[in-house]
Amino acid sequence: MSGTSMDGITAALVIFDGEGVRVLRHRTYPYPPKLLERLGRAARLTTPELSRLNFALGEAFAEAALKLKGRAKLDAIGSHGQTVWHGPGDEPRNTLQLGEPSVIAERLRTTTVADFRPRDMAAGGEGAPLVPAFDRFCFGGGPPRAVLNIGGISNVSFVGKGRLWAAFDTGPGNSLLDAACRAATRGRLEMDQGGRLASQGRADRDKVERLLEDPYFNRKPPKSLDKGYFGEGYLRRHFAPLSPARLPDILASLSLLTALSIARACGRFAPKGERLLEMIVSGGGAKNKCLMEMLREELRGLSLHRSDRYGIPAMAKEAAAFAWMAREALSGRSNNCPEATGAGRGPRILGKIIPP
Ligand SMILES: Nc1ncnc2c1ncn2[C@@H]1O[C@H](COP(=O)(O)OP(=O)(O)O)[C@@H](O)[C@H]1O
Ligand SMILES: [Mg+2]
Repeated sequence: MSGTSMDGITAALVIFDGEGVRVLRHRTYPYPPKLLERLGRAARLTTPELSRLNFALGEAFAEAALKLKGRAKLDAIGSHGQTVWHGPGDEPRNTLQLGEPSVIAERLRTTTVADFRPRDMAAGGEGAPLVPAFDRFCFGGGPPRAVLNIGGISNVSFVGKGRLWAAFDTGPGNSLLDAACRAATRGRLEMDQGGRLASQGRADRDKVERLLEDPYFNRKPPKSLDKGYFGEGYLRRHFAPLSPARLPDILASLSLLTALSIARACGRFAPKGERLLEMIVSGGGAKNKCLMEMLREELRGLSLHRSDRYGIPAMAKEAAAFAWMAREALSGRSNNCPEATGAGRGPRILGKIIPP
């Protein structure tokens, strides 16, 4: 799996025993700088360049799987690939994930399931979010809970009593924080490890309240964000000048914006008449102590736990989700979530299967 942060390829070795899922090990392999640079230009590449990139990424994904697997014997691989274009609003709607699965199947001699999003779109859905189906599988059996992933952007699923109530993007996640680090240091700092800088800064609460008036936050789900919406342009519009001296305060304000947008989304859009008691957090943002503290502060009444508590390391959840998607596809079971993607034509089996 690699998400919008493009921090690298996260591989997880997952075993399904009985009804549950266990992550045996996992690791994120950073993209080599040259590959990352090509990915950054993906929308402007020529067709031959894009084709080469697809195969180069296939090799990188295969290498990540090979390294992680060690001597384990794999039944199958699920690969999300790297999204280089997502156009749910286009006519016809379309999406493109790169990381050629034939290369993965060949290098590992293992059945590979990939390209999950297109079928959901062909069935009238937005092709995203896909992970809520896995959230329901893992966490949907108990009382109503919020399952939050803080990746490049943040998204939440409300699951419980065997069902999924809603799933949507709440707003910013790590991408804005990463972009602030890069912009203020001219690329020297890629991220704020542990949220250390943010915790030294002071958040401007009035400004954050003004930013929370953005119409996206008030829109009712289902809704999803274009990854550029809370991107570098947004950062420069609202937080210039970006200098090293101002960085801690900017990171503190962005963290507060993230925490408040999540907390208010839970307040507003949680299932009516149901009481949420717990939030389960995953994604790189779960490692940001400052952000997690702010979230805890704003979510009083909800207990906050990392997904690690349930056997799924925070960084591995989305990768584990695509292992599950692959397993479901290979078992002939539907693995999309029409409630979340709006796939009006109903449940579908997502994923293309490449034999070993
Ligand atoms: N130790 C850490 N401290 C703070 N932030 C972290 C840490 N580890 C990862 N992150 C943040 O998480 C991001 C990656 O999160 P991830 O869940 O992989 O997102 P995506 O799904 O978009 O790839 C990084 O870009 C970084 O901002
Ligand atoms: Mg990632």
